[in-house]
Amino acid sequence: MNEKIEKIKEEIAGHVIASKENLESFRIRFLGSKSVVKDLFSDLKTVANEQRREIGQRLNALRQEAQTRFDQAKEQLEDAASDDEKLDLSRPGDSIEIGARHPLSLVRSEIIEIFNRIGFSVSEGPEIEDDWHNFSALNFPPEHPARDMQDTFFIQKGEEEIALRTHTSSVQVRVMENSKPPIRTISPGRVYRNEAISARAHCFFHQVEGLYIDKDVSFADLKQTLMHFAKEMFGEKAQIRLRPSYFPFTEPSAEVDVSCTICNKKGCNVCKYTGWLEILGCGMVDPNVLDSSNIDSKEYSGFAFGMGVERIAQLKYRVNDLRLYSENDVRFLKQFTPGI
Ligand code: PHE
Repeated sequence: MNEKIEKIKEEIAGHVIASKENLESFRIRFLGSKSVVKDLFSDLKTVANEQRREIGQRLNALRQEAQTRFDQAKEQLEDAASDDEKLDLSRPGDSIEIGARHPLSLVRSEIIEIFNRIGFSVSEGPEIEDDWHNFSALNFPPEHPARDMQDTFFIQKGEEEIALRTHTSSVQVRVMENSKPPIRTISPGRVYRNEAISARAHCFFHQVEGLYIDKDVSFADLKQTLMHFAKEMFGEKAQIRLRPSYFPFTEPSAEVDVSCTICNKKGCNVCKYTGWLEILGCGMVDPNVLDSSNIDSKEYSGFAFGMGVERIAQLKYRVNDLRLYSENDVRFLKQFTPGI
């Protein structure tokens, strides 16, 4: 009996279990109702009384060994099966999504490049701004109705009221305070206005504003600079037209239209059949503004302009709902992937 047990023990250890079929034959041979181990249990009655207890214990241990070997082999086979699934070499590879730059980033970079090429540097400043930089230094007197032109978001900071900047002209004030003319800079950035969100207005948008201060800067310089910009941005055929306007920080001030790039001035629904599209505000820097930043307005003059990046993008990509720019809908954003 002991010999038989030893033999089966060796058999259990040596049985190759490399497949589900092997596992099943192992189970039938060592664990099933007709297994060799079961047979030995039946033989137990033939064993002499005094040995029966000991042999019985050895048989139990044998059955336990078979069970353990079975459980381990089963687990290994299952693990291997799931590894195989992970390693299915015939599976098509996952496609790699190509990211796209946001249309506003594309247009912003293009505007910056155009002005960089003619010597404008880039200046950036804070989005949370104090009254001085957003309004007072720009010749908005206290309580002046011009402050209502730009519906401002105010934030209470202790006693002080601070604002989300309504334009990046605030950055230009900072530049004037911290440097000496000649100054030639543009300030791109996000600005905020308290407007109901619709296809044509949003509570935040992006601007690029420009500032040029030197001796003898004239309105003709402003016009030429803007004409150059329009041609670089919209093509050689682009024309500009200036209409008188009002800004507290410039005098004289103008609004600039570009000839409609969609219908070539013939009239279409984008330009509302006028042939022209408004793209920016501009003017000669008001002497008061120069003086409040300690630049001598008798010695220096300058021009400033400001445009909305969304507006330029709208004309370039014919996107007529402002909300699309901030909804992060990938179906919209994907269209700006290079090469598609
Ligand atoms: N700051 C003006 C605006 O946000 C634009 C502007 C800039 C106008 C510079 C004139 C000169 O509407």
